[in-house]
Amino acid sequence: MYRIVEARSVGLNIKQFVVEAPRIARKQRPGQFIILRLHEKGERIPLTIKSSDPAAGTVTIVVQAVGKTTSMLCELNTGDFILDMVGPLGHPSEISNFGTAAIIAGSVGTAMALPTAHALKDAGNQVVFIEGARSKEMVVFEDEVRSASTETHIMTDDGSYGEHGLVTKKLNELIASGRKIDFVLAVGPVPMMRAVAQITGPLGIKTMVSLNSIMVDGTGMCGGCRVVLGTESRFACVDGPEFDASKVNFEILMQRNAMYRDKECASLTHFKSHKDEEMALLRADIAQKEADIAQLRAELAAAENDGAGSVEEKHYV
Ligand code: FAD
Ligand code: FES
Ligand code: MG
Repeated sequence: MYRIVEARSVGLNIKQFVVEAPRIARKQRPGQFIILRLHEKGERIPLTIKSSDPAAGTVTIVVQAVGKTTSMLCELNTGDFILDMVGPLGHPSEISNFGTAAIIAGSVGTAMALPTAHALKDAGNQVVFIEGARSKEMVVFEDEVRSASTETHIMTDDGSYGEHGLVTKKLNELIASGRKIDFVLAVGPVPMMRAVAQITGPLGIKTMVSLNSIMVDGTGMCGGCRVVLGTESRFACVDGPEFDASKVNFEILMQRNAMYRDKECASLTHFKSHKDEEMALLRADIAQKEADIAQLRAELAAAENDGAGSVEEKHYV
């Protein structure tokens, strides 16, 4: 189990968790993600690793509560446990000195894009970060965005903070002003990534998008995360999650992401009206797991003391 060493709210319905996961922390590269499960019967959900601290053995993830599982996760606090977490998964982001790299991120996509922005800046790029959010309360990590970039633009849909308008408005303005952009990474809602691709594609600007397709196993076995690139199929979990935007069929991605919407809405409605009950069950499940692990550890210690064979032998042979 994975202990949450720090949980804090960072925006409207957005929470950041620092989680003990030493092996994942040692291997993580920018752009990679984990898949976690909150309880035995829970679904698996992918979340990008925002940063890792190999010395402390922790990884940081940021979650926006959009449905049942993310809402449940956002109810957890410092000291709570996540049942299981696998990673790091996916290919790391491509990092080179492109020249000027524009990072375009919407809401929680900002957290997902930050490690890549840092790495691109360290690689010598001019990094222009365009962060978009619906309103002021959803603008996250502004200080970190500023330190990961050489130029920062904050856009809000309602004009309550930064500049009024969509991220694509700023991208269009920069291009119209003659600004040379050599590379773009867009991370966020599918319509936003598609709109960015429609701007940069005709101009021949190399553009990558981080695809948020529905994932289950994260190993290329289930086919759940299949995305269509031109005439080819790829699995976002093992071949991505970042792909060449000019090849992505965004319409199919949107259709596939909406496949279970009725069930997801019903599940969220049920969770909201039974939140205390559901959280109590989750905590009981985790407490049982803690007790099982403690018992196994005690048996292991006892077996080592009396030299009477390994715990594995007692349990499984
Ligand atoms: P639901 O109500 O079940 O679903 C809401 C919508 O989320 C669905 O319509 C669907 O489009 C999508 N979704 C549902 N189940 C899954 C699933 N198993 N896998 C992927 N998408 C799903 N969100 C963050 O807040 N922070 C992140 O750092 C982050 N990183 C991601 C990295 C990757 C590689 C991918 C693919 C997705 C990432 N997401 C991230 C999105 C996050 O996984 C979904 O918001 C989450 O799974 C929704 O679960 P839910 O039960 O709360 O919502
Ligand atoms: Fe199953 Fe990618 S999540 S193949
Ligand atoms: Mg769900």
